[in-house]
Amino acid sequence: MGAVQKVLLLEGIHMGAQQRFQEAGIETDLLSGALPEIELIEKIQGYTVVGIRSKSQLKESVLSRALHLNAIGAFCIGTNQIDLRYANSIGVPVFNAPYSNTRSVAELVISEMIALSRNLGDINSLAHKGQWKKSAKGHREVRGKTLGIVGYGHIGSQVSVLAESLGLNVIYYDIVKKLPLGNATAMESMEELLIHSDFVTLHVPETDMTRNMIGEKQLESMKPASYLINASRGTVVVIEALVRFLKSGHLSGAAVDVFPKEPKNNQEAFESPLCGLENVLLTPHIGGSTEEAQVAIGQEVSESLIRYLQMGSTFGAVNFPQVEPGIKSEKAQRVLNVHKNVPGVMKEINSLVSNAGANIVSQHLSTDENIGYLVMDFESEGIVQLAKEIDSMDFSIKTRRV
Ligand code: NAI
Repeated sequence: MGAVQKVLLLEGIHMGAQQRFQEAGIETDLLSGALPEIELIEKIQGYTVVGIRSKSQLKESVLSRALHLNAIGAFCIGTNQIDLRYANSIGVPVFNAPYSNTRSVAELVISEMIALSRNLGDINSLAHKGQWKKSAKGHREVRGKTLGIVGYGHIGSQVSVLAESLGLNVIYYDIVKKLPLGNATAMESMEELLIHSDFVTLHVPETDMTRNMIGEKQLESMKPASYLINASRGTVVVIEALVRFLKSGHLSGAAVDVFPKEPKNNQEAFESPLCGLENVLLTPHIGGSTEEAQVAIGQEVSESLIRYLQMGSTFGAVNFPQVEPGIKSEKAQRVLNVHKNVPGVMKEINSLVSNAGANIVSQHLSTDENIGYLVMDFESEGIVQLAKEIDSMDFSIKTRRV
C-alpha cells in the first residue's frame, strides 16, 4: 500500500526519463528492447511502474499478472498496444505524451510547402543521378500564397504561426470553434477552404468523420496547381483519387507522411500507388520523429508518472478519472483509493473515516462509468490502519498512501 516505487523502462526510452525518476528519488531500471510476453510477465513482478514505447504489448494476459503495478507510461503518442479498459478496471492509469512532437510535425509541414513549391524532391534525385535541371518554370515562392489548414488543433495552430512568419495568408477549418492565431481566418466550411488555398495541409484525428475525408469531390474543389500535404492519418485521404488528380496535373504536387497501410518495421517493403509520381514527397511517418521530440516525450511522461506516484495526480491519464489534488500540506497524510463505481461507496468510506475519528482536510473524487478515484488528505493519527480498512472493502480495487 505504501510500497516503495520501482520503475522499469523498456525499449530504449530516452535517458532523460531515468534521470528525472532518479532526481525524484525513484529507483529505475532501463532495458534497451521490448520483452516477449513470458519474460515480460516475469520481469514486471518486481516493479510498480512500467514504461514502454510501441513494441511492448500490455494486454490483459500480461496486466492480470502484474500484481504490484500502479501505473503505466506510454513513452509515445499512441496507446493501442495497451489494454486501456483492463488497466482501468485494475486501477492502473496510463500516461502518454500526445503533444511532445507537435512542433516537429509543424516544421516538417513548413519544409514540405517550400520543397513542393520548388520541386526539390525531383531535382535533388536528378542531380544525384548526374542530371542538371536548372529552370524557374513552375517554381514559386511561398510568400503571399494561401495556406489552408484543416484541423486547427495543436499541430494545425503551430503550422499557422510558422506559416504567417513566412508571409503566407492562413485560413483554417475546424469542426470546433477555435480562436484564430495571428491573422489567420476561420472558414465556414472545408469546401470554402479548398477553393481558396494554394496549399492544403491536414491535421485532423482519425475518426469516422475524417475517414476518406479528402476524396474525388474535395480534390476537384482544390485550386488548379495547388498542393496537398497529409501528415495526419493515412485513412484521411483516398489515395487512388489523389493519384488521379496528380496525374491529371490538377494538383502540382503532394507530400504524404502517413498511409492507409504502413510497413510494421524498417525491414518490410513500402508500397503505394503514389510511388514514382512527379513532385510527390513520400516520408515514412516521421512527422513527429525528432531527437527533440524523444527528449520531450521522456520528460512529459516521466513528469506525469512522478506526479501520480508522489501526489496521486491523474491529470492527462488516457484511461482514468481525472483528479488533480495538488501538493499536500506537510502535516497531512494522503490516501488514494480506486474503487468500483457502485452506489454507496462514499457512504461506507465516510463511515470508516468517522469511526476512526479521522480529520479529513480535503477530499477529491472523480468517476467514470466503471471506477471511482478518491484522494483524501488527513491530519490525524491512525491513517495506516484506516487505509487498510478502506482497502479491504469489497468495492476497493487499489489503495495507496503517499
Ligand atoms: P488535436 O486533437 O490537437 O487537433 C485536431 C483538430 O482537428 C481539433 O481541433 C479537432 O477539432 C479538429 N477536427 C476533428 N475532426 C475534424 C473534422 N472532421 N474537420 C475539421 N477539423 C476536425 O491533434 P494534433 O495533436 O494537432 O494532431 C493532429 C493529427 O496529427 C492527428 O491525426 C495525429 O494522429 C497526427 N499526428 C501525426 C504525426 C506524424 O508523425 N505524422 C505525429 C503526431 C500527430
